[in-house]
Amino acid sequence: MTVKTFFIGLAASFALPWLVMVAVPYATMRNVEIPQFDEVDDGKTGSYAPVKAGRTGNGSAIYGAEGCAQCHSQLSRPTYAGNDLGRPNLAGIQKDPNLGDTRRESLLWDYTGEEFAWIGETRIGPDLGNYGRRMEIQAAEENTKIATALGVKVEELKAEQKYNTEKAVFAHLYNPRSDNDDSVCPSNQHMFKVVPVYGQGYENALASSGDEQIIAKPKALALTSYLLNLKRDSEVPYALNFARAKKKASAK
Ligand code: HEC
Repeated sequence: MTVKTFFIGLAASFALPWLVMVAVPYATMRNVEIPQFDEVDDGKTGSYAPVKAGRTGNGSAIYGAEGCAQCHSQLSRPTYAGNDLGRPNLAGIQKDPNLGDTRRESLLWDYTGEEFAWIGETRIGPDLGNYGRRMEIQAAEENTKIATALGVKVEELKAEQKYNTEKAVFAHLYNPRSDNDDSVCPSNQHMFKVVPVYGQGYENALASSGDEQIIAKPKALALTSYLLNLKRDSEVPYALNFARAKKKASAK
């Protein structure tokens, strides 16, 4: 090998990955335009603004720092790379009472407001992209069960009788094996603290023993708020909705 071919080879082995991993993604993503609704396809006009609630910014940062993305994805893959749309409540809801079929692939805008898009590294744990909606569905089911057991209507349940999604997430974060014996989701007891019970005690505290309660520290509060607001339920322009069952407004 001559010195010249060595240097050409050296330059190429840095230039090619740079081109594919830096230059091309930058060129394609730097001028992404905000998607617009279309009069014919969607029956309305205007820009698509993803609706997000909860502690998106710091919740997402904690999610990343705690390594949740190592086991949990937040990505409904494009159909050619593995169909996620058929998995129950993962990429949206098949029969949403208000919006119909909301299942779709992940979009760039699903990660709005977050410094990193936690698409995830492996899928050891379930995809969390639509976790908030799944928990809402679970809460509705649990409330029906509670109401039936008490012999009242769901609307008649008092706030303290209802299934508490925030508390359910706390319980999972504190000890994932509390609801699933075989869980390998790590426990996050450092996000909680034991405090003495004064008066009526804290809201959403975990099981207490005698005069002590386990309560969430700010980290757990932010993370829980973030998790419960991971939803795939905003209406996206027809052009971005790859779900096969989706109809154009003009065809409805
Ligand atoms: C070692 C891999 C691993 C890591 C790291 C991990 N999890 Fe999990 N997680 C799992 C597995 C496996 C499950 C499924 C079993 C279960 O329900 O506990 C799960 C379940 C969950 C669930 C319930 C999901 C559902 O649809 O019911 C939530 C919420 C969750 N994890 C949150 C987190 C958060 C937040 C973090 C970071 C603090 C995290 N996980 C880190 C493996 C992991």
